[in-house]
Amino acid sequence: MLPPMQSGRATFEGYVTNRLINFYVRRSTALGLPIVEHAYISLTGKIGPKQLGIYDDAQIPGLTKLAQSIHALGTPIVIQITHAGGVANKKVIGTTPAGPSARGKNRKLEKTELEKIAGDFALAAERAVRAGFDGVELHGAHGYLLNQFFSPLFNKREDEFGGSLENRMQFPLMVVEKVRDVLKGKLLLYRLGSDDLAPKGTQIEDTVAFAVKLEQAGVDIVDVSGGMCGSEPKQLRRIKGYFIPQAYEIKKAIKVPVIGVGGITEAKHADSLVRDGKVDLVAVGRAFWKDSQWAEKALKTLKT
Ligand SMILES: Cc1cc2nc3c(=O)[nH]c(=O)nc-3n(C[C@H](O)[C@H](O)[C@H](O)COP(=O)(O)O)c2cc1C
Repeated sequence: MLPPMQSGRATFEGYVTNRLINFYVRRSTALGLPIVEHAYISLTGKIGPKQLGIYDDAQIPGLTKLAQSIHALGTPIVIQITHAGGVANKKVIGTTPAGPSARGKNRKLEKTELEKIAGDFALAAERAVRAGFDGVELHGAHGYLLNQFFSPLFNKREDEFGGSLENRMQFPLMVVEKVRDVLKGKLLLYRLGSDDLAPKGTQIEDTVAFAVKLEQAGVDIVDVSGGMCGSEPKQLRRIKGYFIPQAYEIKKAIKVPVIGVGGITEAKHADSLVRDGKVDLVAVGRAFWKDSQWAEKALKTLKT
């Protein structure tokens, strides 16, 4: 699989460009499933200037062209949808970023705003369906809004959306349910921040419990990543398959397929992770970015 990787190829308003389409077309022959980079569901959830957007119906034609170009190769396609919450870029969004709790100069989201954001996630998912995507992935990792609610590092709320593990799962589960309802049988993936890599952050036992809830709520595939600021934590950089141990723990607790990722560059390694039952699917990011022929070469390597 190709994991979502922000390519910085959209317009400043978040519209699809031919350059963005070509990035995916070049990588989608011999590929199981590409997940298109994180697309922001509303203007206040944006982080990068040329980030892809899915916040307006006017974006549907461009997204349709992207989905059709990949389908023409016989490959399915899913898009990741996101809200950056407290880590949104103030300069880019033109207002104070808001997350589960006030943090630095950022403010806390009111309960009424949570309903609105969950609704925006559902509208974005609907747009993905209308554009012909085979599903959506909710971005619940790398310190973005859904992850901020789950993580005790970001979430200091004292209402029903914060505090206990149960409460910290509430908002992400509310979003899952709203999105599930509009998908009309298309795939729902959840990218799960499995480990904050910090002593007071999310621990794997909590994430396993969360993954069980996600499965019960109708998530079809759990994509296991981690780390709060960026997805290539320095302390794990040298390890090949650095989030595989967390993915394996989660796989043991649920029945739906689990994706593993992190520092995987070799076809034989990827193949062995599936054969050994560690994960069901393997995502290769940076190696695939560098070499658009990665999947075709991998097939050849595994056939010899
Ligand atoms: C340039 C770049 C952009 C990324 N953008 C996203 C993103 O939009 N959404 C996401 O969930 N992860 C994103 N990631 C993380 C990757 O999906 C992946 O989890 C990470 O790179 C580890 O896999 P790898 O070692 O195979 O590259 C990004 C990574 C890179 C290098």
